[in-house]
Amino acid sequence: MMETEVLHVRHRPDGRIELAEIRQLSPGEAEDVARLQDEGLGDLMFPVTPGQIADMLGPGGRTVGAFVGGRLAGFMAATVPGRGEANLGLHLGLGQAELNAVAHWTAVIVHPDYRGNGLHRRLAMAAQRALDLPRTRFWLATARCENLPSARNFLSVGAEIAAILAKYDGNLRYLFMLDRLAPPVAYEQVEEVPAGALDLQRELVGAGFRGFASSPGGIRFGLPVRAHGAANAALADAADAL
Ligand SMILES: CC(C)(COP(=O)(O)OP(=O)(O)OC[C@H]1O[C@@H](n2cnc3c(N)ncnc32)[C@H](O)[C@@H]1OP(=O)(O)O)[C@@H](O)C(=O)NCCC(=O)NCCS
Repeated sequence: MMETEVLHVRHRPDGRIELAEIRQLSPGEAEDVARLQDEGLGDLMFPVTPGQIADMLGPGGRTVGAFVGGRLAGFMAATVPGRGEANLGLHLGLGQAELNAVAHWTAVIVHPDYRGNGLHRRLAMAAQRALDLPRTRFWLATARCENLPSARNFLSVGAEIAAILAKYDGNLRYLFMLDRLAPPVAYEQVEEVPAGALDLQRELVGAGFRGFASSPGGIRFGLPVRAHGAANAALADAADAL
């Protein structure tokens, strides 16, 4: 079980500063998740069903939440999809051993009163700590391309836009991937692409570019140049051991 993390957050409506505690949720807290979804889902995330909430909080998942005054103000769920067809790594051509080392960031919601505190980012990092290496080398997530707050947060924890595809309900989504064991990467031919220029973004990704950072008006794409190093060997060993 992860350690509780404490941070200051600003309550948007009246500006007061409060203490938030980030910790892992237990199966008994499903109602808190459902209530927060009712209050803050918006129209850019696919709602999670009661069955999915039970999975997120059950032994196969890890859900971390930020509590303010004992009330859930934000949560992020992480799951391990195994080698089944739901594994997002299938879109990226990951091999069988690599698919075993995939974790998904799934649902994330921050209450509208607590947005702007970077909680998405903090929760994404806490979810990584809640599931540990080497089981979880690759962290994958999708977000609707219009959901810039979410895209910016996934980029800010080091995930790259590795694909742009129509998924689930047919809407275009970014597919993010963070490889925790990847050697250091540099980017060449960097272009700042406006957020709405999805045709250009898809063209770049098709040519091997990756989205790697947000910029004021959009997203920075570049051609990754990866150093080859010991991390790969360590990873191959870890994957073989799975
Ligand atoms: C995506 C989400 C979790 C991000 O929330 P967050 O962690 O508070 O985001 P940040 O702290 O990075 O906020 C960055 C800025 O974007 C703004 N922002 C965040 N979410 C916003 C939204 N849905 N609409 C408009 N602006 C938003 C914040 O107010 C902040 O602006 P500020 O710096 O001027 O205060 C939150 O928008 C949310 O819960 N959305 C609904 C559910 C959802 O779409 N989940 C993602 C599914 S992939």
